[in-house]
Amino acid sequence: MFTTESFGLEVLGWMAITFIIAIGLLLIFLVGVYIADVTQTKQAIRRNYPIIGHFRYYFEHLGTFFRQYFFTMDREEMPFNRAQRSWVYRAAKNIQNTIAFGSTRDLRPAGSVLFVNTAFPTLGRDAVNSQPVVIGENSARTPFTARSFFNISGMSFGAISKPAIQALSYGAKKADAWINTGEGGLTPYHLEGNADIVFQIGTAKYGVRDKNGKLSDEKLREIAAHENVRMFEIKMSQGAKPGKGGMLPAVKVSAEIAKIRGITAGEDSISPNRHPEIENNDNLIEMINHIRDVTGKPVGFKAVLGDTIWLREFLQTVKQHGKEYAPDFITIDSADGGSGAAPMSLMDYVGLPIQESLPLAIDALFETGLRDRVKIIASGKLINPSEVAWAMCVGADFITSARGFMMSLGCIQALQCHQNTCPTGITTHDRKLQHGLVAEQKSSRVCNYIQNIRYEVGVIAHSCGVATARELGRSHARIVQPSGKSVSLKDLYPQPQEEMP
Ligand SMILES: Cc1cc2nc3c(=O)[nH]c(=O)nc-3n(C[C@H](O)[C@H](O)[C@H](O)COP(=O)(O)O)c2cc1C
Repeated sequence: MFTTESFGLEVLGWMAITFIIAIGLLLIFLVGVYIADVTQTKQAIRRNYPIIGHFRYYFEHLGTFFRQYFFTMDREEMPFNRAQRSWVYRAAKNIQNTIAFGSTRDLRPAGSVLFVNTAFPTLGRDAVNSQPVVIGENSARTPFTARSFFNISGMSFGAISKPAIQALSYGAKKADAWINTGEGGLTPYHLEGNADIVFQIGTAKYGVRDKNGKLSDEKLREIAAHENVRMFEIKMSQGAKPGKGGMLPAVKVSAEIAKIRGITAGEDSISPNRHPEIENNDNLIEMINHIRDVTGKPVGFKAVLGDTIWLREFLQTVKQHGKEYAPDFITIDSADGGSGAAPMSLMDYVGLPIQESLPLAIDALFETGLRDRVKIIASGKLINPSEVAWAMCVGADFITSARGFMMSLGCIQALQCHQNTCPTGITTHDRKLQHGLVAEQKSSRVCNYIQNIRYEVGVIAHSCGVATARELGRSHARIVQPSGKSVSLKDLYPQPQEEMP
């Protein structure tokens, strides 16, 4: 007779047998791993600590995520510490960004920036957030009136995902800012939000190349025909990898990305390490003027400075041709800029940081009498109001950021941009991971971030006694020296007299 009791006992029996088999299999598996570990000769840890040695790699992987929560102090983490990131997260969520008790920033190390408050700050109500600036006023057929001094730096479709671009595009529009396409070409997602767009021309000319990979005037005209495409930026180099072209690992080259770039899906997308047709200053001037003639829009270039003399020489050559041949803007990127993928030796060792290159670039423009003609855009870890205000004090016309905006989208600095495994959906094309990034929601965060940066740079400006961010100058910031004393920026970098044209 089959009773409930005997059925229960039978199930229990089967469960016990399954459990014993599972334990047995696990033991056999562990014995296998043990033997493999102790007999292999490549890894000392596994040889000395069979089985548990494997956890090291797992914990190392998890450490990237957990270190920031449990172990590091507010100002220890790199590339961005918790204090910098928290400011962005809070600004993006538009929640209160005041702190209590006192500064956790050590004000004494050499290089620290201190702003020069005045006895009689400008009243907050005098604030004007951002005056528009016209780029290419007398050179381009369609000059561009840029309304925000804080904008989105180049990040290609490929390096970042579709929802990330959509969120940036809509967010930029809401905040009157521009979005730079990066070198991966123009996509429908850049156009969706209807924001101002800077189209970047990388060394592989993605989006504007002909069948042979050369710059196509026809494609340039097609891109320029989009009203929202306001300017063209020739990418000479980027801070994270000067002398190396864009790198998109095969794992991230989806069919859609391959189509937009005109390359093969599933293969590494490596751009040449320089524009093959630009090998000297004359070539660069020719290229700038050619693109401006074809598109009718302002044209400039992006570079990280290494050789401190080159920019002066370039500007001298421009002068010999005539002021009208000058680039409409130059983007100076910092050696410690970010990238979706770059070799560590270039990331860590090549190029000058923005703290050194920005004053150099601006002074070179003054010295050559081109300051009025050429606008300067600065980028490189300028993600908090203090850093943006410093750049404005030095003389930048615009500041752009890439990673600040990634954080506004929720980036947790997991450092996996090149692996297609970004846990926040920003730098991955894995649909499951992108699911977490809701473009519409995040676009408000992008907008809040821009508006809060502009607002708080304004707060610094008021403290320094001027009404707007654009009035900040070198007398408004001091830099702490190794002696511990601070020196005014205007003494460190006396603004050269503008050479008469
Ligand atoms: C994911 C990612 C992708 C990028 N792609 C490009 C690119 O296509 N072209 C470019 O000129 N710079 C690119 N950059 C560099 C940024 O535009 C910027 O110059 C640099 O990161 C410094 O700004 P940040 O410190 O605010 O990030 C990229 C940076 C990141 C993080």
